Amino acid sequence: MKIVILTGAGISAESGVPTFRASDGLWEGHRVEEVATPEGFERNPGLVHDFYNMRRAQLSHVEPNPAHRALARLEEHIGENLTLITQNVDDLHERGGSKRVLHMHGSLLSALCNSCGERFRWLGKMSLTSKCPFCKAIGLERPDIVWFGEMPYYLGEIEAALIDCDVFVSIGTSGMVNPAASFVQIAHNCGAHTIEINPYPTQNAHHFAEQIQGPAGSEVPRWVETVLAKE
Ligand code: OAD
Repeated sequence: MKIVILTGAGISAESGVPTFRASDGLWEGHRVEEVATPEGFERNPGLVHDFYNMRRAQLSHVEPNPAHRALARLEEHIGENLTLITQNVDDLHERGGSKRVLHMHGSLLSALCNSCGERFRWLGKMSLTSKCPFCKAIGLERPDIVWFGEMPYYLGEIEAALIDCDVFVSIGTSGMVNPAASFVQIAHNCGAHTIEINPYPTQNAHHFAEQIQGPAGSEVPRWVETVLAKE
């Protein structure tokens, strides 16, 4: 059985990483246009660096939760029959034990050089004086995050997996950002069973054949156990 899983901010919520769409419409006090668009970065790169430096630093204060670990267990058992796609830029899937994670929206632990286009691991603070280890350009680094208006990573690989899967599961995502929001329809049109795991109904809920209502931390391990019991 081939399974594709898409995760969003909700899977990391119980680890203490805030989700994106808080009730005030702000991301940790900032408007989306300020901190998640190329234009916002051009206008105020210092503010954008500070925002992502803070979020990168937060990673050392959070731990994977049972949902991340359960998905790693699933990978251990079914290997390449699992495609794990995340919209999250944290590293909790990896720290939970997952080996192959498609970070379609980039990663807090990666930098992108605006001069030579290289992407490379970045663990500390990023600033207007950071130097690219490849082309040595100074001040042209940016967080390797896919901002609004930019093309997500791995889309070819993701599309191939969606077309080919038997089950598609969406965990902890509001389904408000494309193209990830449309993955359920591709999988459904190609014959997959579709499941949504979320404590609250989403605007995408009607596209799913099955709803599991509840927090990822308890519902994902439970679902994984049912899958493994059938293997
Ligand atoms: P959102 O903040 O839009 O949605 C989080 C979802 O998690 C909501 O549907 C919540 O109901 C759900 N949720 C909350 N607690 C949960 C829990 N304990 N267990 C399971 N689900 C829970 O986050 P995303 O859908 O991930 O892009 O947002 C998508 C993209 O929007 C992000 O990747 C980000 C932003 O633009 C970039 O940074 C490029």
